[in-house]
Amino acid sequence: MIDLNPVGSLPPLGEIPTKMYAQVIRQERFGDPREAFKIEEVETPHIKPHEVLIAVMAAGINFNNVWAARGLPIDVIKIRQKMGEPYDFHIGGSDVAGIVYAVGEDVNNVQVGAEVVVHHGTWNIEDPWIKAGKDPMLAPSAGIWGYNTNFGSFGQFCVAQAHQVLPKASHLSWEQAAAPSLVGTTAYRMLFGWEGNKLKEEDVVLVWGGSGGLGSQAIQLVTNHGARAVAVVSDEERGEYTKKIGAVGYINRKEFNHWGVAPHWEDLEGQKAWASEARAFGKAFWDALGERKNPNIVFEHPGEVTLPTSIFVCEAGGMVVICAGTTGYSASLDLRYHWVRQKRFQGSHGSNDEQAAAYNQLVCDRKIDPCMGELYSFENIGQAHYDMEQGKTVFGNRVALVGAPESGMGRK
Ligand SMILES: NC(=O)c1ccc[n+]([C@@H]2O[C@H](COP(=O)([O-])OP(=O)(O)OC[C@H]3O[C@@H](n4cnc5c(N)ncnc54)[C@H](OP(=O)(O)O)[C@@H]3O)[C@@H](O)[C@H]2O)c1
Repeated sequence: MIDLNPVGSLPPLGEIPTKMYAQVIRQERFGDPREAFKIEEVETPHIKPHEVLIAVMAAGINFNNVWAARGLPIDVIKIRQKMGEPYDFHIGGSDVAGIVYAVGEDVNNVQVGAEVVVHHGTWNIEDPWIKAGKDPMLAPSAGIWGYNTNFGSFGQFCVAQAHQVLPKASHLSWEQAAAPSLVGTTAYRMLFGWEGNKLKEEDVVLVWGGSGGLGSQAIQLVTNHGARAVAVVSDEERGEYTKKIGAVGYINRKEFNHWGVAPHWEDLEGQKAWASEARAFGKAFWDALGERKNPNIVFEHPGEVTLPTSIFVCEAGGMVVICAGTTGYSASLDLRYHWVRQKRFQGSHGSNDEQAAAYNQLVCDRKIDPCMGELYSFENIGQAHYDMEQGKTVFGNRVALVGAPESGMGRK
């Protein structure tokens, strides 16, 4: 039996080393991601009957493990320990491209040797909500794989539930395939998951952070559906990138300064100044679109600093759909713009199996580009999270190589 295999290589198929290298977060290191992540040797995890063990070739970097590294807004290790988990560490990583090395005895949708990716929706398969066939992402036990759960893709082997596993697009390299699933499947649920406001061909959509992970996937999903996306970005280079992936135009948010909580409604002067800036932003949307039409869907994730504007510019009967509060959680809105024009403010989180499979099929059919951003080594996973937190080089999704010895491998 192999004890430990070097990073950048794989043991023979099905041979599982007793230990593995992983980028580990511990509570005493919570803080700057460059310090919080450290490479350690840990026992290779064992799988339960409904689980799959995957040799990680490449791991996608996402914002959730910036939060895990900081221990904010929750301490994922403490929460899992309270639920009975024995481990005093967190191995995150919510995106993977890899090879199945072992399957549990109840698994029948995937075999050893399959080349796969994983979507990040995870839940207790015994949860009565799940057994009743309801939307699993609304189940009390629903969580995000590689964030709420341990043994994500920042180790040489990761553990996923069988229902999360999807085929890897054969035309993509390992690192390309590891880039988009978390953001892409999340964007898919945001745009197509909410009955009454599902994306329609004639819709126009405002996409915050258009060059980033979520934004680059949202723009492509909108465009692929025959609808039109206008991106918001913070510089011209990012704006031009969003046009290359399908946006009809973009707004540079640095040209406006009304961000954050709007002045109180009793502050008439403040309100007047705020509304004037918000209206100018709305006009910038029309200019970028080339038509006087307000967004039917506002694709939100910055949160605190942008929500008042999102609600303001959204079309009557339209939807502001939000999956994060990257800039803060104390978002406010002026209810007058909300109820009189009968807008919907919808939270969204992760995706279910059907939504994830539908998104993955678009990737396999080459209709959606994974928008792979910067490539990092396994050693630099902490740095990758730091760069993400600092908002550096926001073009698509960052990836780290793990089992793949070099980039460009894995295409068929
Ligand atoms: N709930 C879920 O299932 C789920 C899934 C995926 C991601 N998320 C969350 O969504 C957020 C974004 O993730 P991501 O992967 O897209 O991150 P990302 O690639 O770093 O992109 C973030 C974007 O936010 C924009 N941004 C930064 N500061 C801003 C501000 N003050 N105002 C407006 N826009 C600002 C940036 O664009 P510009 O600076 O160019 O404007 C950037 O493109 C994270 O908080 C992540 O945890 C949640």
